Amino acid sequence: MKKIAVFTSGGDAPGMNACIRAVVRTSIFYGLEIYGISYGFDGMIKGGFKRMQSNSVSNIVQRGGTILKSARSEEFMTKEGRQKAYDQLKEHEIEGVVAIGGDGTFTGAKVFFEEFGIPIIGCPGTIDNDIYGTDYTIGFDTAVNTALEAIDKIRDTAAAHDRIFFVEVMGRDSGYIAVECGIGGGAEFVFVPETETDLKKVVKSLKSLRKSKSSSLIVVAEGDEEGTAEYIMEKVKGKLNDADKEFKVTTLGHIQRGGNPTARDRVLASRCGMAAVDGLIAGKSNCMAGVVNGDVIYTPFEDCIGKTKPLKEDHLKLIEILSI
Ligand code: F6P
Repeated sequence: MKKIAVFTSGGDAPGMNACIRAVVRTSIFYGLEIYGISYGFDGMIKGGFKRMQSNSVSNIVQRGGTILKSARSEEFMTKEGRQKAYDQLKEHEIEGVVAIGGDGTFTGAKVFFEEFGIPIIGCPGTIDNDIYGTDYTIGFDTAVNTALEAIDKIRDTAAAHDRIFFVEVMGRDSGYIAVECGIGGGAEFVFVPETETDLKKVVKSLKSLRKSKSSSLIVVAEGDEEGTAEYIMEKVKGKLNDADKEFKVTTLGHIQRGGNPTARDRVLASRCGMAAVDGLIAGKSNCMAGVVNGDVIYTPFEDCIGKTKPLKEDHLKLIEILSI
């Protein structure tokens, strides 16, 4: 193997740059030529390749976003699009690819490998932490810390006005961000897509909590089955029927995707990036490099996208117990 390429795809995540840096520098360390592809699969189709040197990735380990840009490609979902992408790789004599992204990226990468046999290894880059085969995904820790910083501020104003606040966090179909924010932010309740939350129980608890607490915080994962934080707030408000209580909603949104990556994310990203290149050199493919129980492991894309990573039971219990 002489030439490999790296790209970022899907929603960006803090730590993607640290991962690109690790891929580029590990490749150079082993004497490989390394190319960056701009705008993910779209860039691959359009030939957005540029040769990268060690200094191409200087001063980026601490930066959010992705210097390679990111996109979700409609064209790559078609056979013709993938054929164009493969032709571009052939033209540039690329023999292996590192794909940094989430489940959408790995779904595309798996199909691409199965159709054209191009060696491809993934690194888990998404704030959602919804990828099987790694305890944490790159960007998750930063997103949780960003959300927590906002939640701490919301707590101050909630307490000052004796209000009940519903805070909506990201995570697509996963409740990981919500659960960690719930524990770290001292929430009374957390609504997550993985479990059904009994609204009656929430209302009952809020009523009894009124005696001991003047304000409350409820974290809602954006993918919760019940609905948005606004919708849940209206429902709870209606059932609580307490004219003295004020209810507010804050949707944190894309601030959770930006910012400097935490130390945890930089280290995870660097380890996965190096492992992806190591894996390609060792002849691995169609899999993701992740970290489980402190060790780097390679998990087939099929499992990464096909198996669910359940929330920890004790985390949900923790929120319930600590909210009394
Ligand atoms: O997958 C990362 C994520 O931030 C999800 O948490 C969220 O649902 C989605 O991407 C938002 O996507 P977009 O940036 O395209 O609005």
